[in-house]
Amino acid sequence: MCGIIGYCGKENAADLLLEGLQALEYRGYDSAGIAVFREGGIQTLKAVGKLNNLKEKVAAQGPAFISHCGIGHTRWATHGKPSDINSHPHVTEHLALVHNGIIENYQEIKEELTKSGVSFTSETDTEIAARLIDSFYQKSHDPFQAISASLPLLRGSYAFGVIFRDLPGTIFATRKGSPLICAQDDDGNFIASDIPAVLRRTRRYYMLEEGEIAVVTDHSISFFDLEHHPIDKKVQEADWDVEAADKGKYPHFMLKEIMEQPALVRRMTLPRVKDGLVDLAIENLTDQKLASFRRLIIVACGTAMHAGMVGKTFIERLVRIPVQVEIASEFRYADPILYPDDLVVLISQSGETADTLAALRLAKEKGTKTLAVVNVVGSSIAREADYILPTCAGPEIAVASTKAYSVQVCAMILVCLKLAELHQTLTTHQIRALVHEMVNRVPDAVQESVAKSDAIRDVAVHYQTVEDLFFIGRGLDYPLSMEGSLKLKEISYIHSEAYAAGELKHGTISLITEGVPVIAVATGDACYEKMISNVKEVRARGARVILLCKKGAVGACDVADDVFFLPDASEIFTPLLAMPILQLFAYHISVLRGCDVDKPRNLAKSVTVE
Ligand code: M6R
Repeated sequence: MCGIIGYCGKENAADLLLEGLQALEYRGYDSAGIAVFREGGIQTLKAVGKLNNLKEKVAAQGPAFISHCGIGHTRWATHGKPSDINSHPHVTEHLALVHNGIIENYQEIKEELTKSGVSFTSETDTEIAARLIDSFYQKSHDPFQAISASLPLLRGSYAFGVIFRDLPGTIFATRKGSPLICAQDDDGNFIASDIPAVLRRTRRYYMLEEGEIAVVTDHSISFFDLEHHPIDKKVQEADWDVEAADKGKYPHFMLKEIMEQPALVRRMTLPRVKDGLVDLAIENLTDQKLASFRRLIIVACGTAMHAGMVGKTFIERLVRIPVQVEIASEFRYADPILYPDDLVVLISQSGETADTLAALRLAKEKGTKTLAVVNVVGSSIAREADYILPTCAGPEIAVASTKAYSVQVCAMILVCLKLAELHQTLTTHQIRALVHEMVNRVPDAVQESVAKSDAIRDVAVHYQTVEDLFFIGRGLDYPLSMEGSLKLKEISYIHSEAYAAGELKHGTISLITEGVPVIAVATGDACYEKMISNVKEVRARGARVILLCKKGAVGACDVADDVFFLPDASEIFTPLLAMPILQLFAYHISVLRGCDVDKPRNLAKSVTVE
C-alpha cells in the first residue's frame, strides 16, 4: 500500500524516481509525486491518477529539469481522497516527506500542533508527521534529532523518506510496520518500498529494521539507532532478475504470471525432494519437532488464505491432524486459544500484509511456534517467524495473485506429504508415487491447463457482459470456487460469490434465474454425483453453467453449457490444474470488459495497513 522511492547519485533523480515508481505502481495508483533538490530549494511535482499523469508533468518541465537527489511516492489513498493536496510528498517550510502506512493518533497530534500555531492543508495523516518533524527541526536545526524525537510520538505504521531543504543531497529513511530497503549502486544509492523498484539498477540492498534511521547520500548509506549510535549492516544480494519484474512478450503481468506457473511448480518442488521423498529443508525445524505439532493454524488473507484452505482440506484428509484456517484480520483480535503444541502457519506472498504480520506477532507473544510460507524472503513475516518455507515465485507484480497461489499450494502439498510420512498415515510407497508425480507429471499438466487460454477466451466472450456470477463447489472444490470468484470480481468488477454447493438450497438458489451464470467446480471424485445434482437444480431454474471437471467425468457435457476438462493427475494436485483455468477465465473477461487487468480499481498489491 503506497510505494516509496528515493535516489541520490550521479544520474538524473527524476528519471530514476519515475522508473522506480513505475515498478512500485502496483502498490497504489491513486496519485503519484516526486520532490527533488533543485536551484537551492525543493521542487515538488504531483499528479492525481496513474503514473503517466506525473510523467507528463515531469516531461513538461523540459530537459533542464535536472537534479541528483529526491524522493517519490505512489499513493493508495487512506486519509483523504486522491487530490494534489493529499498527494505525497508532503512539503513544509523545511522538508518534504513521503509515507507508507497509517498514523493512527494523527488527530491527537494535529490538535497539539494546531494549539501551537501550526496549520494544515491536507486531510491526510501523513501531513502531521511532516509537520511534527518540522516543528522539532525548527528547535534543533538537526534533521536526525528532529526525526528521532518525532518517532516515539507516532502510533501506527510508517515507512518514511524525508529530505531537508537545508541539507541537499541527503535522504533520511525510517520505518515501523511498513517495509523499506536501502539499495546500493555504483552510481548512487536508493531507498525503496521493495526490491523490484531498484532491480533495473542494482541487486545489492540492506534491510532497514524497525527503530533504525538510514542516512543516504550519493556515496554512502549509514544506519543509526534513535540515539544516533551507528549500526553495522551486511549488504544482501537479491536473487530476482530484471526480467522477472518485466512483462516481456505479454500484454499484462497477470498473463505472464499465469503462464509462469508450470515452471514455478517445478522450481518449488524439485529442490525439496530427496531420495524420492519430501525434504522441506526448513532451517531449525527437525522432523521430530515437525511431527510434534498436534494442530496447524493457518493464518492469511485473500488468495493466500484460499491456498491455506486447500492445504487444510488435504492435510486433514491425508494426515488426520486438525488444521484451522483463520482470516488474519479476525484472528488478531479474537484472543485465539493457542496450545504449546500448535504450529501457526502464516501464508503471504509479500510477507508484509499488516494483519498477517500482526497475527504472527500475536502467536509469538503467546509462545506458539510460527512457520512463514512466504515469497519475499527479506520481508518482515519471513524475518520474524521461527521457521520459513520460501515459495520462490519471483516478484509477482499483477495485483491479482496467480503464481504466488500455485506455489503456496505446492508448499501445502509438500508439508502434507512430509507430515504424512512422519505420522505414517500414508505408506512410503504411496508418498514416493505422489512425489514422483509431482516432479515428473504435474508441471506438464499445469502447462496443459494454461495452454487452454484461447479456448477459455472463446467461452469468456459469452459471459463478458454479465452482472452477477456464482461459483459452487464441494470439498477441495469449495476453496477453489472462492479463489476463482475472488479473481473474477477483483479484476472484472463482476459481482461474484462462491458457495459450498450444498448451501445453495439454504437461501442462495433464490438468486438463480434465467441466464444467471454458475461456474460449477466439480473436480473431486467423492462428491461429483452430488455436484451434478446441484448443477441440474440450478439449470432447472435457468442458469447457464460452466463445468470444470476431470477428463472423462460422466455426463459432463449433458448438464453444462460449457465444460473444461482438467488434465489427468491425482486429486491432491487438482488445485494446481484447476486454478489456472479459473485465473484465465477472470483474465479474459477483464480484458474483454476493457478493465485495467494489472491494476484494478481501489486495490493495492501489498496491504500494509489495516
Ligand atoms: O501478500 P499477501 O499474500 O499476504 O497478500 C494477501 C492478499 O492481500 C492477497 O492475496 C490478495 O487477496 C490478492 N491480491 C488477490 O488476488
